[in-house]
Amino acid sequence: MSEADHVVIERHGAVALVTINRPDKRNALDDATRRQLLDALDALRRDREIRVVVLTGAGDKAFIAGADIREFQGRTPVEQLRVMRLPSVYEAADEFPKPLIAMINGYCLGGGNELAMACDIRIASETAKFGQPEINLGIMPGGGATQRLPRLVGLGTAFKLIYTGQIIDAAEARAIGLVDAVVPAAELRPRTMLLAETIAAKSPVALQMIKEAIRASVRSPLDDGLRHEQSLFSVVFSSQDKAEGVAAFLEKRQPHFTGE
Ligand code: COA
Repeated sequence: MSEADHVVIERHGAVALVTINRPDKRNALDDATRRQLLDALDALRRDREIRVVVLTGAGDKAFIAGADIREFQGRTPVEQLRVMRLPSVYEAADEFPKPLIAMINGYCLGGGNELAMACDIRIASETAKFGQPEINLGIMPGGGATQRLPRLVGLGTAFKLIYTGQIIDAAEARAIGLVDAVVPAAELRPRTMLLAETIAAKSPVALQMIKEAIRASVRSPLDDGLRHEQSLFSVVFSSQDKAEGVAAFLEKRQPHFTGE
C-alpha cells in the first residue's frame, strides 16, 4: 500500500469523514500515518465548506490500536524525542477549530484512545474496546492519556486503567464517561453522521467559539474561563449568523447559517 493511502478523506456535504486506513495493522499510527493525518486536518481546517469532521478507523476490528509498536524497536531515546517534538496529532485534534467527532468501531488503544480523547465527542460501537496498554510494553502513555483520561473519568479510574493496561468494553467505557454514546455496530455510521450533520447545520462562528470556550474550561481557573466566555459571546453576537438566527426565529422559519 502506498503512503498516500494511510488516511482517506470522504466528503459528505459539510461533513468530512477521515478514515485511518491501515486495517491490516489495526490502523496503528506509524510516522507516515501521523503525517498524513496532520495534513488532512490542516486541509480540513482551511476548507470553508467543511463544518464538522468525523474521525474513524478502516474495517470493523479497530479504530486505532495505538502507536505502531514496530517503530519503537531499535529507536534511540533521542530519535524518539525528535519524533515526539514533531507537530502532534493529539494537539492538532484538540485545537482543530471545528467540531471533531471520534467514531469508534473496534479496538481503541494507547495512542488511539489518546486521539479519541482529543476529539470533542466519542461515539462507540457496542463492539469497541478501550485501554491504555503501554504499561504492558514497559512504557507509559505519551500522547496525553495521563492528562486527558483523569479529566474525563476521574483520578482513581485513570490510575487503574493506566497502571494495569486493562482493556474495557464499550458499556464500561460509557459508564465511566470515557465515551458519550454506545450504539449497535450497524448503526454506528448512520447515527454518528446524523449527529455530525445536525451540528453542521448550526452557525460555524458559534461552533468555533463554543469549542474555544469549552477547551478553556479545562485549562483555566473558573473566573478566567467565565470572562473568556463573555469575550467569545460578544464575537458571536456580532456575527451575521446571529442576525440570521434571531430573524429566523422571529419569522418562524429555519435559519440558514453561512459562517459570517
Ligand atoms: N503496532 C504495530 N502493529 C500492530 C499494532 C500496533 N499497535 N496493533 C496491531 N498490530 C498489527 C499486528 O502486529 C499484526 O500484524 P501482522 O499481521 O503483520 O502480524 C496485525 O496488526 C493484526 O494484529 P493481531 O494482534 O493479529 O490482531 P488481533 O485482532 O488478534 O488483536 C489487538 C488486536 C489490537 C488486541 C492486538 O493487535 C494488540 O494488542 N495490539 C497492540 C496494542 C497496543 O499495545 N497498543 C499500544 C501501543 S503503545
